[in-house]
Amino acid sequence: MKGAVPVVGHLDENGYVRLPGCEPSPASMTLPPVIETRGLTRVFESRKGMLFNEVVRTEALRGVDLTVDSGEIFGLLGPNGAGKTTLTKILSTLLLPSGGSARVLGLDVATQALELRPRIGLVLGGERGLYNRVSGRENLRYFGDLYGIPLQDRDRRIDAVLNRVGLTDAADRRVEEYSRGMKQKLHIARGILHQPEMLFLDEPTIGLDPKSARETRKLVRGLAADGVSIFLTTHYMFEAEELCQRIAVLSRGRLVARDTVAGLRRLVGGDRTIEIEGYGFEDAELARVRSFPGVSRVVSEEFGPRLRLTLRVRTAELTEPHIREGLPGHSELTVRERVTALEDIYLDLVEEAA
Ligand SMILES: Nc1ncnc2c1ncn2[C@@H]1O[C@H](COP(=O)(O)OP(=O)(O)OP(=O)(O)O)[C@@H](O)[C@H]1O
Ligand SMILES: [Mg+2]
Repeated sequence: MKGAVPVVGHLDENGYVRLPGCEPSPASMTLPPVIETRGLTRVFESRKGMLFNEVVRTEALRGVDLTVDSGEIFGLLGPNGAGKTTLTKILSTLLLPSGGSARVLGLDVATQALELRPRIGLVLGGERGLYNRVSGRENLRYFGDLYGIPLQDRDRRIDAVLNRVGLTDAADRRVEEYSRGMKQKLHIARGILHQPEMLFLDEPTIGLDPKSARETRKLVRGLAADGVSIFLTTHYMFEAEELCQRIAVLSRGRLVARDTVAGLRRLVGGDRTIEIEGYGFEDAELARVRSFPGVSRVVSEEFGPRLRLTLRVRTAELTEPHIREGLPGHSELTVRERVTALEDIYLDLVEEAA
């Protein structure tokens, strides 16, 4: 029949024609998640007391269900002791879970750790994990051999990572002479030496000066642009906001949220944050503020004799004149508005969880 296109091959489940030998490339398919945990728990038991006969149980993770997609920079936030390092260590096979399951790059962290380890990198930072008496380059040679990098590639690859982290000039100095920032760069160089598909970074910029922290963030972005999936923990909200496509908040071993910053803003109740400051609010006035249009949440803080009311607002209707009208007799009132920051969202979520 004229005009008819003969169909060679078969129609797939989405109605697309699949020609023999023209299977979709991996890039065009939805990639499986790089991290998937289900009901993940971790309990630490330590002994205390005069005779160390009292066992203290700490539930560091209490059933974490987390999915992280391929190719993203994923940020994990949470207060001190929330379980971030514990989760990072479990996902990078350094620590075994007590219960539940965790898969990274499709492999089970408990039963397929040997297969997984060469494909992931871990940067815990700090003073540990480096040999201080030898140079940065010699440290990397040692780790290169440990990772089984072929000798003919090893030194070339070390030069490349030293250059990438900005340590070329200091490569042959002993690590004990390195500043904290330089050590952190060496930790990252070590973490990427074996060209992992996924990198775990626990507080990568802690203790770094603003310039070094900025360089580190640039490095993380560069790695992500090269296709490395990144999982990082941080206490710096601007860092999470600047780097991460998606963020999760962990509180006392439980995940309380996981979304984009915009999604989290909706979750905590609005893009707009309005701060009202004044003196001597009556209970009826506070109730009126809570019932202003679009207000989803009101937090009050005392600053000496002044009270600050912080409002999360979902809609555009509430304006400054509206607020002043609703609080007559407060000529001293200060009203400020800003976009709800990640720090506001984080504090709301952690407070709610507590
Ligand atoms: N080896 C251990 N033995 C006993 N308890 C531990 C051990 N490691 C961690 N914990 C406990 O597990 C909980 C979670 O600790 P974790 O280090 O994972 O928190 P974190 O979120 O990384 O905190 P921070 O922001 O301070 O780094 C804490 O209560 C901690 O005291
Ligand atoms: Mg930690």
